[in-house]
Amino acid sequence: MTGIEINNKEEKKTEKSSVKKKISFQTPKGMRDLLPEEYVFWDKALSAASDIADFYDFGRIETPVLEHSALFSHGVGMGTDIVEKEMYILKTKGGDSLALRPESTAPVMRSFIEHGMSHLPQPVKLWYFGPHFRHENPQAGRYRQLYQVGFEIIGGEPDPIFDAEIIITAVRFVEKMKIKKILLEINSIGCRQCRNAYKKKLQDFYRKTTASASKRKNRLVCKDCERRLELNPLRLLDCKDTNCAELRESAPSILDSICSPCREHFKEVLEFLDIVKIPYALNPYLVRGLDYYNRTVFEIFTEGGGGALGGGGRYDYLAEMIGGKNTPAVGVALGIDRIVNFLKEKEINYEPKRKERVFIAHVGDAAKRKAFALIEELYKNGIKTSSALGKDSLQAQLKVADRLNCPIALILGQKEVYEETIIIRDMKTGTQENVPTGKVAEEIKRKLYGK
Ligand code: HAM
Repeated sequence: MTGIEINNKEEKKTEKSSVKKKISFQTPKGMRDLLPEEYVFWDKALSAASDIADFYDFGRIETPVLEHSALFSHGVGMGTDIVEKEMYILKTKGGDSLALRPESTAPVMRSFIEHGMSHLPQPVKLWYFGPHFRHENPQAGRYRQLYQVGFEIIGGEPDPIFDAEIIITAVRFVEKMKIKKILLEINSIGCRQCRNAYKKKLQDFYRKTTASASKRKNRLVCKDCERRLELNPLRLLDCKDTNCAELRESAPSILDSICSPCREHFKEVLEFLDIVKIPYALNPYLVRGLDYYNRTVFEIFTEGGGGALGGGGRYDYLAEMIGGKNTPAVGVALGIDRIVNFLKEKEINYEPKRKERVFIAHVGDAAKRKAFALIEELYKNGIKTSSALGKDSLQAQLKVADRLNCPIALILGQKEVYEETIIIRDMKTGTQENVPTGKVAEEIKRKLYGK
């Protein structure tokens, strides 16, 4: 008795340790699988982006997912969160330091320079769609693998009309994704000269106010902003901390400080937006988190919070920052994950394509072979199919057809194989008719598309 008990215990022990040993994998933190149901939205985003790009005449570009990490430290900026905290960097066996791209503006500009695109008719208009990687704290609408669609206008003149064109392109894309309430926030952060003067003004203001507060042992800005004050004072303006937000109300405004060419540029951007009736709200605290911007910066939101759906601006200095010659440019990137999350919250759905699919069912081995060949026949006729050829029971196969919402099932049994016919079953009404095999494609096209 006791011995058996001991054995049982030991068995349980080994069972337990084998359970322990069992490995199971999950997606890395902040990353996720895009399952077929989700992909309906992704497909829609890609086709909407492609239509918009085609209309406004942007050519598609695909840059590598890995770039030299120095491209981002030079282009996006050493003091930015993206470069300082969020890049996935790997060292190659050859000793290179590569980064998973956290964004694509610097890579697209790198490509523009590398391929001598300044010799093409200017400006060059490019768009992209794909995954980007940022090691951020994952939360709602914030992922470590995120998808962006981006539009960039590079080269030519630094004309404000291009700033407006980029904004319109982004707005049209969001509208095409069926998001109606679009809120555009816009600001100008000036040029090298006037911005530097403004930064000094800002630092003076914050140093003075925080110094007198610290005498009273009172902290007026958060720890991050204390650091920003020295490294990147513009970022003091878009801190989300409530104390920091309160204090910035009395800080000098950037729009009062930019030089007159920058002011004129901004005024013209707004006038172009007025012409096409794109509403906007001035936000003097909008500065964006990437170093390459100058003059116009903007972000796009929709109702209900949840972070920006997209953002962009002018980046005339980026080409020089990464070793090229002076090249005016302006662009935008939109976050597909956030747009899709919003659509799902609002239960905005896109038509699944499955409607037009025909289900192929069989009974018996000979019919299974015929069904297999029939699928290829239908492929040649442009008719999409679904099937469950591994199942023998007709009932089980028709259950699958039902779950897949196929409007029509084609059923092949021994008799049909022998008579060279096929049963066409209307899955909604259950009515069935026999048609000769040779006429089946024609008959389905008539039923599905009325052709
Ligand atoms: P960004 O503002 O860093 O700009 O990103 C653009 C959009 O990508 C954001 O508005 C947001 O919708 C989405 N996004 C950013 N980070 C995440 C995340 N962790 N999870 C989900 N979505 C995210 C840029 O990347 C610039 N390259 C835009 C640009 C293009 N400027 C000029 N041309």
